[in-house]
Amino acid sequence: MLDMPTKTVAEEDTRTMSETPTLAGTNKPALLGVEEAKSMSLKQMTDLFKTHLNPGQYHFMKLLGFHKVKIERAEGMYYIDDKGRKILDFFGGFGSLAFGHNHPRILKARKQFQDENRHEIAMAFLSQYASALAHNLATISPGNLNMVFLGSSGSEAMEAAIKVAEQAQGPQRSKVLYAENSFHGKTKGVLSLTDSPLYRSEFNLVNNVAKVPFGNIDAIRTALNNDPEIGIICLETIQGGGGIIQAPVEFWQQLRALCDEKNVLWIADEVQCGLGRSGRFYAFEHAGVVPDVTALAKSLGGGKCAMAAMITTTEIYMKAYGKPANAMIHAAATFGGIGEACITSIEGLNILYDEDLIGNAARSGDYMLQELNRLKEKYPKIIKDVRGQGLMIGLELQDFSQTLPFAIKPAVSLLDAKLKGSLSGFIGAALLRDHDVLVAFTEYNRNVIRLEPPLIAEKQHVDQFIAALDSVLGEGVVKIVTKFLKSQVS
Ligand SMILES: Cc1ncc(COP(=O)(O)O)c(C=O)c1O
Repeated sequence: MLDMPTKTVAEEDTRTMSETPTLAGTNKPALLGVEEAKSMSLKQMTDLFKTHLNPGQYHFMKLLGFHKVKIERAEGMYYIDDKGRKILDFFGGFGSLAFGHNHPRILKARKQFQDENRHEIAMAFLSQYASALAHNLATISPGNLNMVFLGSSGSEAMEAAIKVAEQAQGPQRSKVLYAENSFHGKTKGVLSLTDSPLYRSEFNLVNNVAKVPFGNIDAIRTALNNDPEIGIICLETIQGGGGIIQAPVEFWQQLRALCDEKNVLWIADEVQCGLGRSGRFYAFEHAGVVPDVTALAKSLGGGKCAMAAMITTTEIYMKAYGKPANAMIHAAATFGGIGEACITSIEGLNILYDEDLIGNAARSGDYMLQELNRLKEKYPKIIKDVRGQGLMIGLELQDFSQTLPFAIKPAVSLLDAKLKGSLSGFIGAALLRDHDVLVAFTEYNRNVIRLEPPLIAEKQHVDQFIAALDSVLGEGVVKIVTKFLKSQVS
């Protein structure tokens, strides 16, 4: 058992303004070591999470049963807890784990990089690692998408996307059109293009933006005709946070033509749907058209590190930052193009093709859609819709907010106003609790379970997931909900 002196929230709160906080000085404070971090008990993790990270979030973890699990290792398709329980990962970190957990080739490349004492920070010298990664991304990307900005998160890549487009268009054409139900990140710039009242809260956001329904070319045309200041349109190619929403192929083709006609730059956010997840490297490739700017993140880090990229055409990049006078306006941040992260991404991109993971995403995704549609026929009162492409699948459940059996309604609403009537939380909790399967939830549409397993998922994993889901759904709604309620008090 570790003895961990820690400040509690209560102690922080009782400190008055006039008191001088104790300063650490130069003596080493009571820090935890690496081995102590690894061997922490669930109780200690809970205390520290609630005291120092996010007490409110703990509430949701508890509702879903996540708080009872201590993960020790992760390999391929599975998390493995401290008791040796293997949990099938169909959540996939919202698309961050294309290669599965700890892919051996990625581990090897990283270890070798460390053993060779390679340098990480490349702000002064040219970086062979960043250059090679940029080459790979430009080689993979279609059309003239040749210029690459490296960052550390999807939000940062999307900020870079908006900025390069604005800089190229100039202040008279800097207004950005975005879509209903969009998610582009939580930093303040891209939060202005993220259509979530929850995340937007009451922040003062960028105001030269306008919103249109997703996938509606007429609405976009009208917006462009009415407002010549709109010079940029920013869309996820497949809406992830919105609950796996796609627009038809013709929409993207019409969008490309319209943007060309009106001299509008199209930014395709591929942070979640890119890197092979949809069955093509970029989801926009299904439509045979190429955007002006795109962004990748999540799986670009190989499931091991934070890596993101904005990719644009040479023409747009040169217009924005091509001269010495403007080259540093949006040059890489401190950790942009950091060595080991670049090596990880380079190895990941090679694995993607060497192991045909894009083809596998298409095949396993088709099989999963077929199996989910079979369950939809079997449980029409529970499953409303099955949709998606490749291994980016949404399972929409019927809305039970009006039909939840009267007797259990009050108990459910007592637990959480957000889960009330939404089956996805109950079903997700049951999949983890009784079947060792992890799935993801959707903030915008509480009835959608998001399925984004690693692209290494094979038939056997899909079968394991489908059997688990079939078993949970077979219990019927009342039992699913009552078992959930019992689990909350046990
Ligand atoms: C489509 C899309 N864009 C941007 C982001 C932001 O990425 P990050 O969380 O790495 O900042 C996300 C994250 O989920 C995303 O799904």
